[in-house]
Amino acid sequence: MTAVSGREQLMEITRREIENAMSGNLDLAPSVLEVPTERYIDPEQWELEVERIFKRLPLALAFTDELREIGSYKSIEVAGVPVLITRTMENEVKAFVNMCSHRGAIVVDEGCGEARDFSCPYHAWLYDLEGNLQSVFDDSNFGEFDKTEFGLTPLPVAERAGLIWVTLNPKSNVDIDTFLSGYADVLEHLGFKDHVVAGKQPLDGPNWKVAYDGYRDFYHVPILHRNSFGPDGPYQADYYAWGPHVRVVSPKGHERLSDIPEDQWNVDDITGGVWTIFPNISIAGTPSTGYMVSMMFPGKSVTESYTIQNFTRPEPVPEGEEKELEDHMKFMGYVVGEEDYYTGKRVQRSLATGAKKVSMFGRNENGGQLFHRWVQALVDTPDEKLNELLEKGIDN
Ligand code: FES
Ligand SMILES: [Fe+2]
Repeated sequence: MTAVSGREQLMEITRREIENAMSGNLDLAPSVLEVPTERYIDPEQWELEVERIFKRLPLALAFTDELREIGSYKSIEVAGVPVLITRTMENEVKAFVNMCSHRGAIVVDEGCGEARDFSCPYHAWLYDLEGNLQSVFDDSNFGEFDKTEFGLTPLPVAERAGLIWVTLNPKSNVDIDTFLSGYADVLEHLGFKDHVVAGKQPLDGPNWKVAYDGYRDFYHVPILHRNSFGPDGPYQADYYAWGPHVRVVSPKGHERLSDIPEDQWNVDDITGGVWTIFPNISIAGTPSTGYMVSMMFPGKSVTESYTIQNFTRPEPVPEGEEKELEDHMKFMGYVVGEEDYYTGKRVQRSLATGAKKVSMFGRNENGGQLFHRWVQALVDTPDEKLNELLEKGIDN
C-alpha cells in the first residue's frame, strides 16, 4: 500500500468502512484459526519468541516528545536488555546498550531526563551523548588504552511518525522501513510528532500473547467491558494490515459519516479504531484529544508481561486541569488491569490445565489470526531469512 499517500489510504479505508456500515458487511477472515494452547504456556516457545521477535525486530520504545531537546535521554529495560536512548548535540537520536565498558554496570537509571554526559555509578567512567567514552577515573591503571574502542555499544535506531524504534540486537540488519511496510505514512496522521506524553503508569499482565490478543479484539468489548465502557459498544471490526501491523476499525462508528461530504471529514474521522504496532503496541484515542499508547513487554517468565500505559495529549495539560487526566488514567488502569488483564491471567491459568488443545479465533477475529500467524512465522524463521520474510510477508 506504500505507493498511495498515508492520507489517501485513510480516506479509502473510511469509504470502505462506511460502505460496510451501510450494507452490514464485515471483511471476514477466510476461515477459523486454531492456535495450539501449548504455544501460550511452553517456556521453550516463549524463549524463542523473546529471542526471535523482541530481540530481532525494531520496537517502538519512546516518543519523540520524550527526546525533543538536545541532551534528553530515556533509559528503559526491555526483555532483560538495558537500553539508553539519547538526543545528541547534532540533534540525532541514538541508542545504546546501557552497559559500562569497564565492568558492565548499568550506567543510567531507568527513566527520562536531560544530561550532557553520563557518569557510571560504579567507578565514574564518563560517556557523552554519542556514547563515546570521554574519561576514565585514574586512567593510568589501564595502561595504553584507546578510549575510542570503549564507547557504549550502539543499537539500530530510527525515528518515524513521532515514535522512536530501537532494535535490541546490536548486529541486526533489519531495515526499519521494510519492517514498517508503509505503516509510518498512516501513523503520521495520529499526530505523535507534536503530542506531549502527559502521564504514564505500569500494569502487570499475563503471557504477552494472551495480553496482546485483547488489544486486537472488539468482540469482547460490550461483554467484558459492559460495566466500564457500557454494553452498547461496537463488537464487530474490520482489520487492515501493513506487514505485521494491524489497524482494528469498527464499521458501526462510521455510519454517521455517510451523509457528511468527504471534504468535511476531519483527522479524527479518518483515524478511528485501535492501531496496533507489532509485536507489542496498542494505540487508542484520537489525534485531537490524545491517545493511550500501551507498550507491552514479556515479563520474567512465560506467564508474565508488563505494560506501560502512556497518555499523550496534543498540548500540555493546563495547570489546574490535572484531575481530568488523573481520573482518565485511573479509569484506563482499571479497565485494562481489572477487566482485560484480570481475565487474561485467568485465561493463562486455565490454558495451563491442558484441558483444551486449541484456542479459536473466529472469522471475525482476523486481527488475532494475523498476529498469531506472524508470531509463528517469525519464530520459525532463522536470522538469515528474516529480511526475506519481512519483505514478502505471510500469505493472506
Ligand atoms: S563498571 Fe562502570 S566504571 Fe566500573
Ligand atoms: Fe479490552
